[in-house]
Amino acid sequence: MAETLRSHLHWTSSPLIVNAAMGGFAGGRLAAAVTRAGGLGVIGAVMANDLEKELGIAAEALKPTQKGDIIPIGVGLLPFIVQLDSVLPILQRYRPAVVWLFAAKELTDYSIWAAKIRRVSPESRIWIQTGTVSAALKIAQSAKPDALILQGADAGGHGFERGASIVSLLPEATDVFKANGLDNTPLLASGGIADARGAAAAFALGASGVVLGTRFLAANETNAPPGYRELVLAARDGAQATVRSKLFDNVKGPNIWPEAYDGRSLVTESYNDHVRGVDIDQVREVHNKAVTGEDSGYGKTNRANVWAGSGVGLVNKLEDAADIVEEVRSGVTQILNSTNARL
Ligand SMILES: Cc1cc2nc3c(=O)[nH]c(=O)nc-3n(C[C@H](O)[C@H](O)[C@H](O)COP(=O)(O)O)c2cc1C
Repeated sequence: MAETLRSHLHWTSSPLIVNAAMGGFAGGRLAAAVTRAGGLGVIGAVMANDLEKELGIAAEALKPTQKGDIIPIGVGLLPFIVQLDSVLPILQRYRPAVVWLFAAKELTDYSIWAAKIRRVSPESRIWIQTGTVSAALKIAQSAKPDALILQGADAGGHGFERGASIVSLLPEATDVFKANGLDNTPLLASGGIADARGAAAAFALGASGVVLGTRFLAANETNAPPGYRELVLAARDGAQATVRSKLFDNVKGPNIWPEAYDGRSLVTESYNDHVRGVDIDQVREVHNKAVTGEDSGYGKTNRANVWAGSGVGLVNKLEDAADIVEEVRSGVTQILNSTNARL
């Protein structure tokens, strides 16, 4: 399965390392750096104009090495928020190797998106990220994606409110896919993988590729506000430092995310207020004042959402994306060999 996945991604090395689509954070510079290091670089876009801008940056950075018609990166889109018609002409022009979809309002929306994207960019592969075995099965049967990313509950940012860690999610999905004749659909793992140990575990669970989000928040090429990055680098003990809650989508104003979703962020003062029972209008007022203030909510006020996964305690230094890819890739083989020798 890993070979099937990589056959379309000719520049990648084995095992396959992917940076997560992170809207507003994973831009063209990060995607180009990850791809140049032999991984799959992915842009996370929230709006069509971000997509176009970041694709332009990646295309420029990859120009000297690019072969063929497709641009050797993925682009991540959120169907519940972006208009399909606004992104189709951009996908047609750039033809990304992968179009990654996440968070459709209804699971059936993915079929419409996949069909329309395939029409304008037949060379693009469709990958869909989801967080439960039943959703993965429904999506595989209806939208027929080229791969699915199983997102465990440790993931930073948004995900299914009712989730499980990839330790059980991935093997169960693998079994269910096999029982339904879908074992030719590659499964990737995301959520809580922050270094080669997590990646090795995911490959042992049956993943054909691994996705790292939070770890790449500490890459030099990622677009993260300095205050945000400092908090990620300083955080320890992800079990305590982060929490999943719908509160994070309620702090600016009414939550626009589909009902099934919540998000994992560093614990903020707004979250603490919410637990203490402070009224949401008051939480919003203090939040909105703090994030437009001097420290943008990242300093003493500690009000801004800092999306990060439970692996955040393993993310301790700022480095180049290529070094992260190389460390994880070479570490996986070493860890699997030494584990085998140890047993
Ligand atoms: C800062 C941040 C922003 C994210 N934005 C998106 C997004 O725009 N689209 C998406 O598909 N997933 C998004 N995610 C979730 C990631 O795709 C992925 O599931 C997650 O980062 C994996 O878990 P990890 O952070 O523990 O590595 C985001 C995650 C983070 C940390």
